[in-house]
This record gives sequence, structure tokens and C-alpha cells, in this order.
Amino acid sequence: MKSHALAPAKVILTGEHFVVYGATAIVAAVNIYSKAIVSRRNDKAIVVRSSSPRCTMSFVDGSPRVIREGKDTRAILEPICRVAYAALEHFDGREKGLDIQIDSAIPVGVGLGSSAAVAVSTIAATARLLRRRTDREAIRRLAFESECMIHKAPSGIDQTISTFGGVIMYRREKPFQRIPVRHTFPIIIGNTGKTRSTGAMVSKVRGFLTKRSALKGEILMSVERVAKKALAALQCGDIQRLGELMNLNHELLCQIRVSTEELDRLVSVAQEAGAFGAKLTGAGGGGCMIAVAPTHHAANVLRAIRDAGGTAYLVNIERKGVKSWLVR
Ligand code: MEV
Repeated sequence: MKSHALAPAKVILTGEHFVVYGATAIVAAVNIYSKAIVSRRNDKAIVVRSSSPRCTMSFVDGSPRVIREGKDTRAILEPICRVAYAALEHFDGREKGLDIQIDSAIPVGVGLGSSAAVAVSTIAATARLLRRRTDREAIRRLAFESECMIHKAPSGIDQTISTFGGVIMYRREKPFQRIPVRHTFPIIIGNTGKTRSTGAMVSKVRGFLTKRSALKGEILMSVERVAKKALAALQCGDIQRLGELMNLNHELLCQIRVSTEELDRLVSVAQEAGAFGAKLTGAGGGGCMIAVAPTHHAANVLRAIRDAGGTAYLVNIERKGVKSWLVR
């Protein structure tokens, strides 16, 4: 018997970084997935294999051991081993061993929430194997522990959206609010291909804002206004207005120095190619930008991003969040 789970990637429509300081962020799950396949072992080891990057690691009696080396094997697989161990403990399967196969299509280290989606899919597949009812709140809580291991002081937004899906309004340590989006709209992602660490970017911003408390207060107020207006735009399906607000949000992110020349270039070519609006998404410093566009301009925007040297993907909102099922 094998248990499968799919957990989606995310894009932040407004409010990254500022969400760490208690501001409101709006985030959407998108249809790029991490897949985890989990089965029982006869011993008590936890063995994790990843197909991309290709590497294997086992976890025996609480200590990790690299079996097949790949790029950053330990950094990538150790949190998965630990999250699986925590899930076994939580779902009362402590005495069991697991084989975990991770097939993730989410690019790593570019702001699309790949580590959170991997953790969420691993926990959900483990819970399903142990025949536990899908307790999404427990999945989200357990995934937060692994996110803290990777990103140090995350806001919790990534594992929340990967678990619950759809579009949500998120505030740190507050109940989140679902935003019903009746009309789906295309989202274009542009990847600069430059990877970076979210934890390092969050620390850099903390250093920057600590020395500028007046600016911090003003920016947080502006971000809050952008989020409120973006919520209203989403609720009435006004994607043009949402795009304008994303442009404003990008400028606020430039103020805290998390954009780069490459990101600014992809944002401006997307705007020129007919997007309603564009901004960097995630921690910045490289990674990805997103654009929203009228359907008839989506192909132009994709092409413009590719011509400017980025990798472009057309995605849609994923409404359901993590899903899991058993295969005999
Ligand atoms: C999360 O994808 C991006 C940041 O806002 C960090 C966080 O919220 O934990 C930069």
C-alpha cells in the first residue's frame, strides 16, 4: 500500500516581507505541485529519495545519514526526514519506518514555496498512510516546524496556503481569511533563475528596517492600504485594479531593497507587454516575479519574459490545497 499526496506552490499577490512584521498579505496557491509517495518499511528507518535534485538520505534513531549525494542533499532532505518523523510521532506511528519519494515540480529557492509544499505533501501522505483523517490544521502546524528549520523566522504564510489552497488573506499568528474568487484569472510567473535564501533575505530586511523606524511605519501603513484595496478588487473580480495595486506593491518592495535589476527588468517587460500589473513574489534578491494580464495578452507577457532572459510559466489558482489518497 502506498499513500500519495500533492501540495501546491504559492505566489504572494501583496505583502511579502511586511507580513513578517504583522502586516496583511494576500497569497494564492497555484497549480505547480510537490508530490510525496509514502510506504511502510519493515525496519524503523525513514528513507527519503528526491528525484529533483536526485539524492537520498536516511534517518535512523534520530540521526541523519546521506546515502546518495546530490547538490545540497543534507539541506534539502534533512528537514523532510525530520518532518516525517514529527508526523509519525503526531499521528501515533512512532514505531514505524517509512520510504518517502519526493517528486516536486516546484523550482527550489525562487520564492514559490517549494520547501513548504514538500513538507505539506510529506505530512499529508504520512497521515493518510496511517489512516488518519486529513486534519489540515495539524498538517499546517507540523509543516511550520520544518519551515522554521529552513527559514529561521518565517511568517507561516507558505505552509498555510499550500495546505488550504485558494486565495487567502494572511496575518501572522491570526486566523486566516479565505477570499472567494469566482472568476479565475491567468497568473504569469517569471523566474530569473537566481536562487537565494529566504532566511537571509528576511534578515537583510530586518537590518535595513531596524535603522529606519519612521520609514518602516510608513511602508507598513501603505502595504496595509494596498492589501485592503486588493481584497476589494479580488472580491469583485477587478483584475485590472489588482494589477495596479501589484505595481504599487513592487515599488514598496524596491524601497526595502529586495528587488534586483533582473527582477525589475522582468516586471517592466511584463507591464509593457500588456500586463495589468507585475511585482516580485516571495523574498526577492533573485527568484521570481508575477504578472496578471487580460487573457488575450497572456501569451505576449510570457514571450516578453522569455525574450528578457527569464523562464516563464502560465499558472492558475489551485483551489483545494493539499490532497492525499491511497494506492494498493
Ligand atoms: C515568504 O514566502 C516570503 C517572506 O514574506 C518570508 C515569510 O513570510 O516568511 C519574505
